[in-house]
Amino acid sequence: MLPLFAISTISISFCSGSSNVRCTQREKQALLRFKQDLNIGNSLRIASWNGDGDCCTWAGVACDNFTGHVHKLNLRNPYDDSLSYAFMWSMLVGKFNTLLDLKHLSYLDLSGNYFEAVQFPAFLGSMRKLKYLNLSLCGFVGMIPHQLGNLSHLQYLDLRPYYPSNLYVENSLWLSSLSLLKHLDMSGVDLSKASDLLPVINTLPFLEVLQLSYCQLHHFPPLPTVNFSSLTKLDLSYNLFDNSLIPSWVFRLSHLMYLDLYYSNIQGPIPDGLQNLTSLRYLALSHNHLNSSIPNWLYKFIHLEYLCLYNNSLVGVISEDIGNMTSINWLDLSLNGLKGKIPKSMGRLCNLRSVFLSCIELNQDVSEVLDIFSGCVADRLENVYLLSSQLSGLLSNQLGQFKSLVNLQLSVNLISGPIPASLGELSALRSLDLSFNKLNGSLSEIHFANLTGLYLFYVCGNSLMLNVSPSWVPPFQLQELGLRSCHVGSQIPLWVFSQKSLIYLDISNSGISSTIPSRFWESFPTLVYFNLSHNQIYGAMPNLTEAFELELFDLSSNNLLGPLPLIFPHMNALDLSDNAFSGSIFHFVCYRMNETKGMKILNLKNNQLFGELPDCWMNWKNLLVLNLGSNSFHGNFPNSLGMLSSLQSLHLRRNSLSGGIPASLKNSRDLNSLDIGENKFSGNVPMWIGETFTKLMILNLRIILMGSYQQNFAI
Ligand SMILES: *[C@@H]1O[C@H](CO)[C@@H](O)[C@H](O)[C@H]1NC(C)=O
Ligand SMILES: *[C@@H]1O[C@H](CO)[C@@H](O)[C@H](O)[C@H]1NC(C)=O
Ligand SMILES: *[C@@H]1O[C@H](CO)[C@@H](O)[C@H](O)[C@H]1NC(C)=O
Ligand SMILES: *[C@@H]1O[C@H](CO)[C@@H](O)[C@H](O)[C@H]1NC(C)=O
Ligand SMILES: *[C@@H]1O[C@H](CO)[C@@H](O)[C@H](O)[C@H]1NC(C)=O
Ligand SMILES: *[C@@H]1O[C@H](CO)[C@@H](O)[C@H](O)[C@H]1NC(C)=O
Ligand SMILES: *[C@@H]1O[C@H](CO)[C@@H](O)[C@H](O)[C@H]1NC(C)=O
Ligand SMILES: *[C@@H]1O[C@H](CO)[C@@H](O)[C@H](O)[C@H]1NC(C)=O
Ligand SMILES: *[C@@H]1O[C@H](CO)[C@@H](O)[C@H](O)[C@H]1NC(C)=O
Ligand SMILES: *[C@@H]1O[C@H](CO)[C@@H](O)[C@H](O)[C@H]1NC(C)=O
Ligand SMILES: *[C@@H]1O[C@H](CO)[C@@H](O)[C@H](O)[C@H]1NC(C)=O
Ligand SMILES: *[C@@H]1O[C@H](CO)[C@@H](O)[C@H](O)[C@H]1NC(C)=O
Repeated sequence: MLPLFAISTISISFCSGSSNVRCTQREKQALLRFKQDLNIGNSLRIASWNGDGDCCTWAGVACDNFTGHVHKLNLRNPYDDSLSYAFMWSMLVGKFNTLLDLKHLSYLDLSGNYFEAVQFPAFLGSMRKLKYLNLSLCGFVGMIPHQLGNLSHLQYLDLRPYYPSNLYVENSLWLSSLSLLKHLDMSGVDLSKASDLLPVINTLPFLEVLQLSYCQLHHFPPLPTVNFSSLTKLDLSYNLFDNSLIPSWVFRLSHLMYLDLYYSNIQGPIPDGLQNLTSLRYLALSHNHLNSSIPNWLYKFIHLEYLCLYNNSLVGVISEDIGNMTSINWLDLSLNGLKGKIPKSMGRLCNLRSVFLSCIELNQDVSEVLDIFSGCVADRLENVYLLSSQLSGLLSNQLGQFKSLVNLQLSVNLISGPIPASLGELSALRSLDLSFNKLNGSLSEIHFANLTGLYLFYVCGNSLMLNVSPSWVPPFQLQELGLRSCHVGSQIPLWVFSQKSLIYLDISNSGISSTIPSRFWESFPTLVYFNLSHNQIYGAMPNLTEAFELELFDLSSNNLLGPLPLIFPHMNALDLSDNAFSGSIFHFVCYRMNETKGMKILNLKNNQLFGELPDCWMNWKNLLVLNLGSNSFHGNFPNSLGMLSSLQSLHLRRNSLSGGIPASLKNSRDLNSLDIGENKFSGNVPMWIGETFTKLMILNLRIILMGSYQQNFAI
C-alpha cells in the first residue's frame, strides 16, 4: 500500500511543479458551483474539485499557460456505449448550473452526462470564444436556441440528444453565422420543421462532417451549386426520403469519404451518380430497396474499406472484379436476391476482416469457400457469416488456419461429414454456430483444445455425437450452448455444470434418460432459456421457486411424474406437456396467488392431472396461450379463467369438464383459437361467441353431453 501511495504523491507534485499557472477565484467558484448542483453519488470523476488548490490541476480542467484562465473543460463520459452500465455509472447527473463566469472557455465537452431534462441552456450563446462544443447525450430538451448563432468561432458542434427528438429546431438561420464550422452533428434532433436547413448548410464553406441521422428529414430541395464541397463525411441514415432517391447534390461532393444512407427508403438501381465519389472509404446503403445488380463501376472503388448493402433486393452475381477492391475490410451483401458463388478473386482481398454473405444463394461447396480464403486473408479474417447460403460439402481441416477468427456463423446450410479437429486451433474464436446442417461424427476434447474465449457454441440440429471424458474441464465459459439433437449420453454431461454463466441452454432431443439432478438450479443461477424437451428424463421435478432468472423452460415430451413443481412467478413460458405429471394443479395455480404472474405460455397438455380447475387465475393476466388438454380435469369452468383479457389460445380438449361456458369468457377478446371439445359441457353455445371473438380462427366445441350424443357446431 505504502509504496503505491508514495509514487502517486510524487507524480502529482511533479505535475503541478511544471506549471505555475493558477486559476482565478471567480472561475474556481464557477466550477465549484457547477459541481455543487450535481448528485454527489455520481461525481466521483471530479472528486479532485475541491476548495483548496489550483483549479487548473483539477480533472478535466485546462488553463491558458500565460493568463491562467480556464480555457478548456472536458467532462466527457469516458465510456462510449450509452447503453452500457459503465456509461451509466460514469455519468455526472444533476442540475445544470450556469458556467457563465468561464468567459475564456474555447473548448467545452459535457457529452454523456445527464442534466435532468432541462431546457437547452441559451446562455451558452454568450461564451463567444468557444471553438468546440460537445453536448451530445446530455439530456437537454426543447428548442435549440438561436443564441448559438453568436458562437462565431465554433468549429465543432455536437448536439445529439439523449432521446431522439427531445431537441428540435424550428428555424436554422442561426447556423449560417457559424461560418467556421467544420463538424456538425445534430443526429436525433427533430429537423422536420427546419425547411431552410439545406440552403443554410450550403453557406458553410468549411464543413467537413455533417451528421443528420434520425432527424425526421424527408425531403431536400435541389441545390443549384454546392458550396460545402469540402464535406468528407455525410450521415443521413434513418431518414425516410419520400421521393425514394439519394439527393442529387450528394453526387457532387467529390471529397466524400464516408456516406451512410441506412434505412433511407431508397428505391431503384444503385444510382450511377455514386460513381463520382471515388474517394469513398465507407459506403452504407443497407435496409433500402435497391433492386439492380451490383454495377461494375463499384468494383473500381479501390479505396473502399467498408461496404454494406445488407437487406436490399439486389440481383445478379458477385463479379470476379470484386478482387479489385483491395482495400475492403468489411463486406456485407447479406439478404439480397444475389445468386452464384463466391468468386475466387476474393482471395486477393488481403485486407478483408469481416465478410457477410448470409441469405444469398451461393450454392457452393464449403471447402471451396475455405480454399478461397486460405491465402493472404486466412490469418486475418475475424468475422465470417454465411448463414442460410446453400453451402454443402465437407468442412476441411483448412478451418484451422483462420487463426484470427472471432465469429463463425454457418448455420442452416447443407454441410455434411465430421467437424475437423483443427477447430480446436481457432484460439480467437468467441462464437460458433454450425446449427441445422448435416454434420455427423463425433466432437471430442481436441475440437475445443484452444477455444479459451468461446462464449457461444451452437451445433443444434445435426447428427453429432458428443464424446468427451466425464472428467473433462472445458477451457471456456459459455453463455449460450445449443446441443439440440446431438447425442450427449444418458445424462446431462458433467462438464456442462462447470459453465457458471450460462444464459441459454438447449439439450433437447439428445438421448438423456436420467433424473434432473437435485442441485440443478444452484449450478445455473443465470439461466434464462432452458430446453430439455424430447428426452427420456424421468422421476419427480424439483420446485422452480429459486430459478429467478429463468424465463423459458421446455421439458415437454419426457417421462416426468408426480406433482407439478412450484414456479417462480416471473417465468414467461413453461412447457411440461407430454409427461406423466399427476394430481391436482391447485398448488401450482394458486401459489403466491396475490402476485401477478409473468407467464405468457403455459402448456400442460397430455399429462395425468386431475381434480377441479382452481379458481385462482385472476393474476395470470399475461397468459396468451393456455393448454390444459388431454388430462382428467372435471368440474366447472372456473370464473377467473374467463377473465384473462390477453388470452389468444385456450385449449381444454379431452377432459371431463362440465357445466356451461361462463359468460366471463367474453373478456378474452383476443382469442383466436378455442378448443374445449371432448368434454362434458352442457347447454347451448352462447350467442355472444360469434360476436365477441372476431379473431377466432379455430373453434372446436365438440360437446359431449354425458357421453350420450355428439353435437358438432360449425361456425
Ligand atoms: C501549456 O503547458 C502545457 C504543459 O506544460 C503544454 O503541453 C502546452 O503545450 C502549453 N500550451 C501553450 C499554449 O503553451
Ligand atoms: C462528442 O462526444 C462524443 C462522446 O461522448 C463523441 O463520440 C463525439 O465524437 C464528440 N463529438 C465531436 C464533434 O467531437
Ligand atoms: C447574439 O446576441 C445578441 C445579444 O446577446 C442577441 O440579441 C442576438 O440575437 C444574438 N444573435 C444570434 C444570431 O443569436
Ligand atoms: C456559393 O459560392 C458561390 C461562389 O463562391 C457564391 O457566389 C454563392 O453566394 C455561395 N452560395 C451560398 C448559398 O453561400
Ligand atoms: C426497381 O424499383 C423501381 C422503383 O421501385 C421500379 O420502378 C422498378 O421496376 C424496379 N426494377 C426491377 C427490375 O424490379
Ligand atoms: C460527376 O462529376 C462531374 C464532374 O465533377 C459533374 O459534372 C457531374 O455532374 C457529376 N455527376 C453527378 C451525377 O452529379
Ligand atoms: C429490411 O429493410 C426494411 C426497410 O427497407 C425493413 O422494414 C426490414 O425490417 C428489414 N429487414 C431486416 C431483416 O432487417
Ligand atoms: C479489375 O482489374 C482487372 C485487372 O487489372 C481489369 O482487367 C478489370 O477491368 C478490373 N475491373 C474493373 C471493374 O475495373
Ligand atoms: C494450443 O495453443 C498452444 C499454445 O498457443 C499450442 O502450443 C498448441 O499446439 C495449440 N493446440 C492446438 C490443438 O491447436
Ligand atoms: C456421415 O454421413 C455420411 C453420409 O452423409 C456417411 O457416409 C458417414 O458414414 C457418416 N459418418 C458417421 C460417422 O456417421
Ligand atoms: C415443492 O414445494 C412444496 C411446498 O413447499 C413441497 O411440498 C414439495 O415437496 C416441493 N417439491 C419438491 C419436489 O421438492
Ligand atoms: C392476499 O392479499 C390479501 C390482502 O392483502 C391477504 O389478506 C391475503 O392473505 C393474501 N393471500 C395470500 C394467499 O397471500
